[in-house]
Amino acid sequence: MRVGILTGGGDCPGLNAVIRAVVRKGIFHHSDQFVGFIEGWRGVVENKTMPLTIDTVSGILQLGGTILRTSRTNPRKMEGGIDKCLANIKANQLDALITIGGDDTQGVANALVQKGIKVVGVPKTIDNDLSGTDACFGFDTAVSIATEAVDRLHSTAEAHNRVIVCEVMGRDAGWIAITSGIAGGADVIFVPEKPIDIDHAVKIVKERHDRGKSFSIIVVAEGAKLAGTDKQATQGAKVDAFGHARLSGIGQTVAELIEEKTGYETRSVNLGHTQRGGTPTAYDRMLATRYGSAAIDLVHEGQFGRLVVLRGTEITHIPLADAIAKTRTIGDDLIALADGLQPEL
Ligand code: F6P
Repeated sequence: MRVGILTGGGDCPGLNAVIRAVVRKGIFHHSDQFVGFIEGWRGVVENKTMPLTIDTVSGILQLGGTILRTSRTNPRKMEGGIDKCLANIKANQLDALITIGGDDTQGVANALVQKGIKVVGVPKTIDNDLSGTDACFGFDTAVSIATEAVDRLHSTAEAHNRVIVCEVMGRDAGWIAITSGIAGGADVIFVPEKPIDIDHAVKIVKERHDRGKSFSIIVVAEGAKLAGTDKQATQGAKVDAFGHARLSGIGQTVAELIEEKTGYETRSVNLGHTQRGGTPTAYDRMLATRYGSAAIDLVHEGQFGRLVVLRGTEITHIPLADAIAKTRTIGDDLIALADGLQPEL
């Protein structure tokens, strides 16, 4: 079969591992040919392609980023965008398309499924917020980077008797914040799923200082909102082609409020895109490889309009439409776990 592959949306560690697994399994076991679309949906709209062979996917398993590059291009927002996609898929004589991306990418994929294109999706995002799967590859690497940062902030915070607020990514889901916060031993963790209660954080920090601790660490998700407001902190008013604002700045706001209300010197650090860069963890390489291998097998089983997912320890698949229906946010259990490690104040 001739199969197209694209990587869309924000990059994340493990994309290359998926591409490699699809291509190796497809060529070695199904005698497939592959066409790589460059820069996500932009490549499909503009017919920008590159060949994908055993040679082109050699040596990429451990590399961050994506050899296909990516973009936040949304064909549904472009004049004739979907029709151009259909025409270029036909021009490349593709029997199927594998879309590696998050909810935005899979939303476009699902629109093409409605037009008769044979698509299999692979769930990607460091935010870990796609419904229907227990894990997206890239999340484990992002959490490892954030946890290491939280570890490192401890020593400098302690040396200076400071409070340090660490802002992490995750958009509307608190997976990175709660996981790196708990794993890194943060004293306060703010997530988008629960309004930020500054006064409670002030009590936690003061109680620590009363116990003789001279520093505190606060982890805050970029999408967390102050109690009493429905607005997320953003960098400018710009939105991307899928309507998402650039979330940023809540860490600094929290730091200013904490310093004002406690009198303790406070700093904020925003980890930003550092969380998406560099080599994937072994867990993400493994998950990405399992997803890639399952995706090309699904193509040969004729199971289209499906997304490969992880349920427990098994790889299975669900309708693409189910995955994009809603954002998978963190549960009360994780919030309770974090709260249980702090005194009741
Ligand atoms: O969706 C992944 C993500 O890293 C979010 O956590 C973050 O809000 C966003 O992408 C940043 O997007 P960009 O790379 O376009 O600035």
